[in-house]
Parts: sequence; C-alpha cells; structure tokens
Amino acid sequence: MSGDVAARATEGFRQRYAAEPAGHWAAPGRVNLIGEHTDYNDGFVLPFALPLRTVVAAAPGPDARWTVWSELDDAPVEFGAAEADEPGRVDGWAAYVAGVVWALRAAGLDVPGARLAIASDVPVGSGLSSSAAIEAAVLAALVDLGGLDLPADRWPRLAQRAENEYVGAPTGIMDQSVVVRGRAGHALFLDCRTEEVEQIPFDLDAAGLAVLVIDSRAPHRHADGEYAARRRSCERAAATLGVTALRDVPTDGLDAALARLDDDETRRRVRHVVTENQRVLDTVALLRADRVRETGPLLTASHASMRDDFEITVPEIDTAVEAALAAGAYGARMTGGGFGGCVLALVDADAAEKVAAAVTTAYADRGFTAPHTLTALPAPGVTRLP
Ligand code: GLA
Repeated sequence: MSGDVAARATEGFRQRYAAEPAGHWAAPGRVNLIGEHTDYNDGFVLPFALPLRTVVAAAPGPDARWTVWSELDDAPVEFGAAEADEPGRVDGWAAYVAGVVWALRAAGLDVPGARLAIASDVPVGSGLSSSAAIEAAVLAALVDLGGLDLPADRWPRLAQRAENEYVGAPTGIMDQSVVVRGRAGHALFLDCRTEEVEQIPFDLDAAGLAVLVIDSRAPHRHADGEYAARRRSCERAAATLGVTALRDVPTDGLDAALARLDDDETRRRVRHVVTENQRVLDTVALLRADRVRETGPLLTASHASMRDDFEITVPEIDTAVEAALAAGAYGARMTGGGFGGCVLALVDADAAEKVAAAVTTAYADRGFTAPHTLTALPAPGVTRLP
C-alpha cells in the first residue's frame, strides 16, 4: 500500500461503510514537461506522472447504485443509474465519479454497483490533474470489481468523455493518457491524433537533475471560460485554414498560414500551437540523444509563447519562471491549462533548494501568497495496489 494516502482511504471506507474494502486502486497526478494546449489540436505532448496519488478503496455494492465518500467532504454522495445516465445530474467532485460510471455505461458495459472511499495527495486546483487521477482510479476500480472486458488502452478516451460530456469541461486527452499510461523514469510522448505513445527515458536522477514543481498558489481566474475560448479560437482557425486541426499546419508552412488569417489574436494563437508542437518534437529528439540539459531553452521558449501568444499566464506564474531562471534553472515554464497552476523548472538536483528559495523571495517581494514547491520524479500510471 502506498503509505498514508491508502491508509486514509481504508480508514474512510471502514468508518463510512463499517466494512473492509475489496481492494485499492491508485492513480497519479501529472505535470506536462512540454506541449501545452496542443492536445485538443491533435498535436504532441510530453507529460509524466507524479508520485502524488489518489487512492480509491472500493467494494461491490447494490446493483446500479454507487456511494462515494471523499475526504474533501464529510457527506458521501449517492447516486443510481438515472443520475449517472444524465450528464450534469451529479455535480461537484462526485461528478468525476458519476462521469466514469456514465462513460462505462454509454460504452455498453455492465458497471457494477459499488461503495467507494477516496483519499488524495494530489492538490485540487493546482493544475496537477487531480480530476484525471480520480477518473482513472475509479475507472480501474470499477473495471476490476465488475470483471469488465475493457483493455487499458481504451481507458483514457473513456475518462476524457466523462470529463467532457458528464462534467462539461472541454479538455483534451493528455491528462487521462498519462495518468493511465505513465511509467516510472519515463516521459510519455503522445501523438494526440493517433494516440500512439512512446515511453521516452527521462532519468533525472542519473543525470543529476531535478524537475522542480512550483505551485503558484495563484487564484484561478476564469480558467474554465478562458480554456474553452482558446479551444474555440483554435478550431475556428483550423476551419479557416481548411485543415482538420492545427496539427496539420507544418512548421515551415506557418508564415503562409498566418498570412491567411485576418486578426492578430488568432494569428498569435495559431503561432503558439504550431511552434509548441515543434518544441515537443525537438525536446523528444534531445531526450533521445541524452542531452537533457539542452531542453532548457525549449521549455523557456514554450513559456514565452504561452505568455505572449496564447496569453494564458498570470503575474505569479511569470514571476516564478523569471526567478527560477535568474537562480540558474536550465529552463522553466508554466505547466497545465493556465491562469494559475504550476510552473516547472529544470535544475541541477543540488540547486533545487536554492531555486525554490529564490522563487519564494521573489514572491515575497511582490506580496504574493508563498508558493509550494516539490521535486518531481516520473512515476507509474494507475495501478491496483497489492
Ligand atoms: C488541461 C487539459 C489538457 C490540456 C492542458 C493544456 O490540463 O485537461 O487536456 O489541454 O490543459 O495543455
């Protein structure tokens, strides 16, 4: 069992249901090394799974009824097939659970009734994909409890459907893919069009490096609406350009494509997506050649593109990136959807503390709420715990 978080899920289960769980399923949070807002443009991403986990303790329950307790909330949420079959009927954090039940049922699977208790070390609202972690852990639990015939390569799409169609958040396939398919010591190079993956060795320890993750603590500012607006603007641009998705605009065709768009904002959105896809490919090439430090400038260029072209950063985030770079990071960028969330910085392992301290000082100078920091090593995707 993975330490405290599994113990908390077990304890929650026992207290709530006065019974023992039949098993525990754990799914990680994630950071994205590079490739932001490229997933819903059919492009490339390079995330990795974190050691922080969400654990679901579960046991079979009455047919077509689900009871879920989470440590986020005292009161459990209970729903049946009618609520699960109608997107929107269950809301709040429990919508991610009901959404998974909905997606499995919509795929024609006979989802077992269940009792679930959820504990998590993945902070909520920090852009580390606590929602994908819940989705994947619940999905794994229900598949195992029901003996459902559902190969793991179908899990990311089902979890994404839960989020898109039940919860109503128009996100791409990145988060669900990496929380399912992540591997220790590797970053996941994912082609979001074909869903083909390649596990890219990313052995930070061996290279004497660390990825410092800085939770900006910035309050989310209209993140959902802005995310949906960016997505719409990319889709409109693709339609104007006569391509299926912005993935189909090649780097050497960028200038010609930009010349066909008539407003400056759309041009900048397109430029971000096309150059970001190229930066993912360039990062992968460097990692394959074991030239990890040299990826730093690509990370920093990605940040500049998100700040200036995609316009999804906020002052806390930009301050963290600048302070990390000034303190010697090889590269730094915001990771995740934007408007808050986390920054990652590639640093020498023995410089991580110094860089974290520099960011904390820069924050204090600007009067921002102190950031949280952690160093992240690539961890495995969803598993059933022994
Ligand atoms: C969020 C979404 C992902 C992806 C990122 C931005 O994390 O859930 O699908 O679009 O934002 O790269």
